[in-house]
This record gives sequence, C-alpha cells and structure tokens, in this order.
Amino acid sequence: MAKFLVNGFGGKRCLSGTLPVRGAKNSVLKAQAASILFKKELRLNNAPLIEDVFRMNNLLEDLGVKIDRIAKRSFKFIPPREFKTALDYEISKSFRSSIVLTGPILAREGVVSFPHPGGCVIGQRPIDVFLDAFKKMGAVVKRGKRVYVIEAKKMKPAEIFLKTPSVTATETLMMTAVLVKGKTVLYNCACEPEIEALAGFLNKAGADIRGAGTHTVSVHGGELLSSGVFDTPPDRIEAGSFAIISALCGKDLKITQCEPRQIRAVLESLRATGVAVEEGRNYILLNARAAFRPITLKTREYPGFPTDLQAPFSIILTQAKGRSLIFETVFEGRLNYLSDIQRMGAEIILCDPHRATIDGPTLLRGREMESPDLRAGLAFLTAGMVAKGDSVIHNVYNIDRGYENIEERLNAVGADIKRVN
Ligand code: EPU
Repeated sequence: MAKFLVNGFGGKRCLSGTLPVRGAKNSVLKAQAASILFKKELRLNNAPLIEDVFRMNNLLEDLGVKIDRIAKRSFKFIPPREFKTALDYEISKSFRSSIVLTGPILAREGVVSFPHPGGCVIGQRPIDVFLDAFKKMGAVVKRGKRVYVIEAKKMKPAEIFLKTPSVTATETLMMTAVLVKGKTVLYNCACEPEIEALAGFLNKAGADIRGAGTHTVSVHGGELLSSGVFDTPPDRIEAGSFAIISALCGKDLKITQCEPRQIRAVLESLRATGVAVEEGRNYILLNARAAFRPITLKTREYPGFPTDLQAPFSIILTQAKGRSLIFETVFEGRLNYLSDIQRMGAEIILCDPHRATIDGPTLLRGREMESPDLRAGLAFLTAGMVAKGDSVIHNVYNIDRGYENIEERLNAVGADIKRVN
C-alpha cells in the first residue's frame, strides 16, 4: 500500500506558481455510466486520471462495453448489443458510483442485480431513494443475501418525489427515464452543477430533459441515444481543495482552469476567515497574509457549502484565532477524521456526530495517519503541509480515488511530498 511522506512547512507559506484543476470526478463518472444509454458510441474528453474513473471503466468493460483510450484523457465507449445484467460484486462494492449503472441497465435490459455499493465510509449511505423510485416505475425489487435483484418487464413513466435530494439518485433516475417511454417527473431533486452538466450532454445527444439544476426535472424518454461527446467540466471540489491549500500554504499561487462561480459558498467562507480572494472567470488567486478569523461552517446541498470540503476547511479553522463551529448536515459519519487532527495538536470538541468546535490557533505537529476517505485524506495531506515536522499518510489509494497525481502537482508548486510504495 502506498503512503505519502509529507515534509511540513511549519506554518510558512511556500507554494507559488500555477495549479490547474482537472476534470470533475463526480461529473465524469456519470458520463461514463451514460454509455449504457447509447446505441453507437460515446466519447469522453478531459477525464481526470483517477482511481474511481478506472474502476468505472473496469465495471463497464465487465458489462460488455468496449473502451478505447484515444488520447491521454479521452476515451471512446462502444456499448454491446446486449449488456450483462449482473454488476461485478467486488468492483461495485469498491465505490459508491457503481449505483448509477443500475437504473440504466434495468431500463435497457429489464433486469439488474448488484450489491449494496461501497465507497467512502462517511455515513450510512442508504439506497432507498433509488429503490422506491424503481418500484414507482413498475419494477419489482428483491433483496437477497448478497445482492439486490430488480426486474421490470416494461418500465413505466412516473411522478416521483425524492424523499432526500440525493445527487446520484437524481442522476440515476434522470438517465433511467431517458429509456422509459413517456414523461417522468422527478421532484425534490438535487441541484448540483454535475446534474446540469449531465443533462446538457444527454440533451445534445438527443434526450429531452428539462429543469436539471432545479428541484423539478422532467424527462420525455423512450429511445436509445445514438452517439455523443462529453467534455468533462472542471472539478469544483478540487478547485475548492486547492483554494484551501493556497489559503494555508500559498504565496501567489494561482488556481487555474476552474469555475469559481461554482464554489461561491467556499470562497465566501474563505473571505469570512479574512482571506482576500480574487476571482476571474476561470482562475482564483488568494492572499491570506493576516491571521484567520473563526467562523461557523454549515454544510448544505448546492449552492451551500459542500460537504466534500468540510474536512479540508477544518484545517484552516485550527489556525483561526478563537472558536469555530463545524455543522455537518449531509452525512452523519463525516467528522470522524477530527480525532487525528486532534492528535496533531488541534483543540477540538466533538459535540455529536454532526457538530464539532475547533479552538485556535494551534501549532499542528506532524504525525502518522491513515486516510479514512477521499476528502479526509486530502485534509490530512493539507494538515501535513501546515504542520511542523514530518507526517506519514497511509492508504493513499483513498486520495488517488479523486485527485490525480496530487503529490506531483503540489510538488510542482513547491510542496515536499514523497510517494513510497
Ligand atoms: N440518502 C438517503 N437515501 C438514498 C440516497 C441518499 O437517505 O437513497 C442520503 C445520504 O445518506 C446523505 C444524503 O442523502 O445523507 C445526501 O447523499 P447523496 O445521495 O446526495 O450523496 P451521493 O449522491 O452518494 C454525491 C457525491 C459525494 C458528495 C455527495 C453530496 C458522487 C459520486 N458522489 O454522493 O461525493 O459528498 O453527493 O454532495 O457524485 C466525494 O466526492 O468525496 C463524495 C463523497
């Protein structure tokens, strides 16, 4: 298992230069899954070269899709005439996005079987919203010991109220409805930009999806799409991660190839801590020379503060003068990483599974840690760079799942991180 050795700056600001943002993980994974909706082929550009993208390709290949790499970041997907309907158990268990394949396979082949999806351990992560919707569309859901088996001879359009505005459920049901004859309406949808990007791409390929990016999405479906091209937009969570790293360790570090308007909540929170933020159309420049101010950070669905950046932002709060409060409202297991930050010297009180206070500023000291999930892993890497002394971060695979060659890219702007296999 690979690990990172991080040489901390001990609070000095040492990163400078240009840090470009790669394509969005949570966008590209859904576009890969959309290959099931196509008859001929799908081309995908600007894909980030991350573990979750490779896992999704493995899973699709196992289902019968032929995938060619046509350039460093471009793939061509050629769907089979008939898909295998059982998702590979081990691969599906290894990442959450495997769930988005279920609806499209069900709508195309009339049956699908799959295990409960795995992925980052950040809460219970149920799939009831998906299952309830499949039932409303005429499917029969059976739960065996290891897998769910869902059958629907003919799926029917439906009016579906999502009891939780789940991002992947919105995307999965939108894609499913593309293959279901008639008009399906989804209420209480998530509004994350990745949903709008997915709908825009499917519409260009011939689908009829309206309202994506709002809470009500309607889909007129019934036909396979012929062929399509998806240009992966920049990753807003990577842009936000880099902004946080820049606030803590940057001096004239320019974050480029991003869309700052998609992370307004993050940039406003940075401003609230006292950081000067300059936003261009596709770049961010931060200046954090003064002491940080404490804030209350409450995670919310888009356009609120993204839960994915709560862990990285907590490192700024350890350096703020006074008491900050973190209120994680989306996932119930997403504060567990704080015990490691505490062991680095931070003053943290975990009030309950959703709330923690952080008193600062405190000197963080390098130590050995194990990355529990993707974003907490990034938080540990950030804490390691801020800390005095060296840190070791185990289970780097969790970071590789969502950040492409993170150590090479950070080293290129002045970090000192070694990957040891
Ligand atoms: N939920 C249910 N029932 C369901 C589905 C979700 O109760 O059937 C609950 C969840 O337990 C959670 C809330 O709904 O409390 C929101 O979860 P959501 O389903 O929206 O999360 P997701 O779709 O599984 C995506 C991203 C996550 C990101 C969340 C929230 C992908 C592949 N993943 O997950 O990204 O945290 O939305 O924005 O798009 C990450 O990139 O590190 C990551 C975890």
